Amino acid sequence: MTMRGIIFNYSSKEFNLSAQQRASTSEGEFRHGASGATQHHSLSRRLAFSSPPSPAAGRLIPNPRWLGPAAATVPAVLQPLFGFLPNKSQTATRRSVVARHGARRRGSSTMRRGSLLPLLLAAAAAAAVSSAEPASTLSRPARPVTVPLGDRGHAVDLPDTDPRVRRRVTGWAPEQVAVALSAEPTSAWVSWITGDFQMGAGVKPLDPGAVGSVVRYGLAADSLPHEAAAGESLVYSQLYPFEGLRNYTSGIIHHVRLRGLEPGTRYYYRCGDPAIPGGMSDVRAFRTMPTVGPRSYPGRIAVVGDLGLTYNTTATVEHMVRNQPDLVLLLGDVCYANLYLTNGTGTDCYSCTFANSTPIHETYQPRWDYWGRYMEPVTSSIPMMVVEGNHEIEEQIHNKTFASYSSRFAFPSEESGSFSPFYYSFDVGGIHFVMLASYVDYKKSGEQYRWLEKDLEKVDRSVTPWLIAGWHAPWYTTYKAHYREAECMRVEMEELLYSYAVDVVFTGHVHAYERSNRVFNYTLDPCGPVHISVGDGGNREKMATAHADEPGHCPDPASTPDPFMGGRLCASNFTSGPAAGRFCWDRQPEYSAYRESSFGHGILEVKNETHALWRWHRNQDLHAAVADEVFIVREPHKCLDKSTRLLAY
Ligand SMILES: [Fe+2]
Repeated sequence: MTMRGIIFNYSSKEFNLSAQQRASTSEGEFRHGASGATQHHSLSRRLAFSSPPSPAAGRLIPNPRWLGPAAATVPAVLQPLFGFLPNKSQTATRRSVVARHGARRRGSSTMRRGSLLPLLLAAAAAAAVSSAEPASTLSRPARPVTVPLGDRGHAVDLPDTDPRVRRRVTGWAPEQVAVALSAEPTSAWVSWITGDFQMGAGVKPLDPGAVGSVVRYGLAADSLPHEAAAGESLVYSQLYPFEGLRNYTSGIIHHVRLRGLEPGTRYYYRCGDPAIPGGMSDVRAFRTMPTVGPRSYPGRIAVVGDLGLTYNTTATVEHMVRNQPDLVLLLGDVCYANLYLTNGTGTDCYSCTFANSTPIHETYQPRWDYWGRYMEPVTSSIPMMVVEGNHEIEEQIHNKTFASYSSRFAFPSEESGSFSPFYYSFDVGGIHFVMLASYVDYKKSGEQYRWLEKDLEKVDRSVTPWLIAGWHAPWYTTYKAHYREAECMRVEMEELLYSYAVDVVFTGHVHAYERSNRVFNYTLDPCGPVHISVGDGGNREKMATAHADEPGHCPDPASTPDPFMGGRLCASNFTSGPAAGRFCWDRQPEYSAYRESSFGHGILEVKNETHALWRWHRNQDLHAAVADEVFIVREPHKCLDKSTRLLAY
């Protein structure tokens, strides 16, 4: 189905801003200089950005195919996402099992309708943008760009009456079906839920063994000869032993691993319990990732964070689906169930509204089920990899945390040797992904760090040239919100990631978009990763708009540590560079390339061993428009010199 007739709301000002940004970035007036913070690192690699593109890196000739999907065609399974008008009102029990997007988007609350004239202007602007070659990280960093704040409005959660979040199955029929990757493309996880959740004072967990966990699959919708039943089924509970609070226990969550799959192949499948009438799902389909190798890449990887379940979320997801991703990375803060009391009363700011009036930070766990139902058209057909954010902590009885996150998603933990749902790795074509935990011990003496060392040591860059990391709390945000909050994690882990020449780091947490230049230890470095923060998925908390470098917005250093990240103060005043002697810059730092407070999503297209195209799409733009784009170019001859794997080049 070709999506036509969709009403987009925007103002021509948005596109004028875009034009200004591009003019700004092309001026090239750039002051190069060190800006290092306290030196925590012994590595001495500090290279200037003046090096010309290397012959090894090569140059790519822009291909019209890169400019976006050839046709905005949405598969039938994804059409429910577009099929509804928003409403105007706006302790895990595990059992091993043997052998085992709106059609008329309501002007999201942030949008206003434009006239025909701005529509035509916008189309012309988009066409002009699309015909230009994106900038490259090989270029000298341009003047940092800050897009002026426009009217972004207010994000409002979908209510429990919205048909997209209501239970649409009966009996033991599966719902909330999702696909996740294993460590290799020959294997994948299928997850689903049977039975409904319970809420109240006397909830009784379902028996995970009451319903079987089976996936039947094959290469055609009418032929599913293979069967898998290896995995687990479980039930989790969220318990609050306080008078008046309502407890929650989930439906039965099933995770089954498929093995022996062909890479790059479309598989059809049904999941459920074939012994129960009506116990199997409809036929779904997903495509496995391409073969692991240096010349094998997926078409598009969507990157989102802090998604939530608002009308802005639906706009983000609709735009993302129209970009036809092969894989989705979700960088934490999923459904924001912890912005609700157990009686279903929600707020945009829990601490502001409920303060100390609740005996424990409550959650309303049905929001997780709402999110799973809304997302099912996406998650059942496009593999999605999730890493935890602070909104997944969800404290409960006995100081238990992360119960919902750990239970609902499948992770390649065992396959990647981490044996943890919080950090893991996997290969997709010529990319090795490392997903890390911001809210689990990240110290050099801890298990996560030791696992990371081993995992990075095993990476063969001649097989997977690209090394991409993802976690929740950003190291290089310049917004006031969460400014240098993750400094302790950066101090512990940055040198290790740098020494293995990580190419890109994706994060969320800050509710805005920001892309860095290549950076290491706050200093421009052609071998440092590009840090991209996409905590702009659309959740109901306020958007981050203030920058720490603006007058009056530099936070008190003592206020920056997060108790859930260890609570220590690791950030100090910068020791050199334009911000020497201060905690904050007095202008947008040179390591910050582009920042904008808008909702949106990003698409990464890895073209070959050295070139990847990154594009960020803000929600208020036309589908084809791109707000920020850059070719991320690897220079292996220069940046892998600390590795014996350099011999491969
Ligand atoms: Fe967060």
